[in-house]
Amino acid sequence: MADPLAAWHTEHINFARLLDILEEQVTALQRGVSPNYLLMADILYYMRNFADRVHHPREDVAYARLAERDPGIKLVANRLLQEHRVLATAGDDLLAHINEAGEDVVTPRAVLEAAAATYLVYYRHHLSTEERDVMPRAAQVLTEQDWAAVDATLPASPDPLFGGNVLERFETLRRQIDLDAKVARDRGLPSDIPSFPARQ
Ligand SMILES: [Fe+2]
Ligand SMILES: [Fe+2]
Repeated sequence: MADPLAAWHTEHINFARLLDILEEQVTALQRGVSPNYLLMADILYYMRNFADRVHHPREDVAYARLAERDPGIKLVANRLLQEHRVLATAGDDLLAHINEAGEDVVTPRAVLEAAAATYLVYYRHHLSTEERDVMPRAAQVLTEQDWAAVDATLPASPDPLFGGNVLERFETLRRQIDLDAKVARDRGLPSDIPSFPARQ
């Protein structure tokens, strides 16, 4: 079996990159510059369809197993399970505001900014808690059988944005991600540092 922890961590890095791009667009909006609403919508579409439908359900199974093996982590695991539901709803809400703004439906800029800020803060905190508090414990106590149970419940499916076969809808977003990584490399900056504390 491929290292499930490594794959899990890679997906978090990918999500954090998307949150960074989303924040860049929100910053443009705050400066009075028209953001790229299509890019923002693609980010939310990916988060709703891959993170919420593949990544989070797999975590849900892993967290249930983890709570059985380590009652001390149960409280944190249960809170993260609830946060998956909140993130899905907040993502829907934000996507609706982005689509309205992109279609020139009159939507107060402050409403979109607030929805985006809430999403960014909440999501980064969620990722940070998983990386800092939960994954190190999962690495210690989850067994091969536990990971097999995760796979049996919901097999890992190809990532339509960061995987080898990029979905047509995501081609522009993927180019933006690759471009950002290139700019970071050219500046001598690490291109894989997300906006949440790295796992120790
Ligand atoms: Fe999660
Ligand atoms: Fe996660």
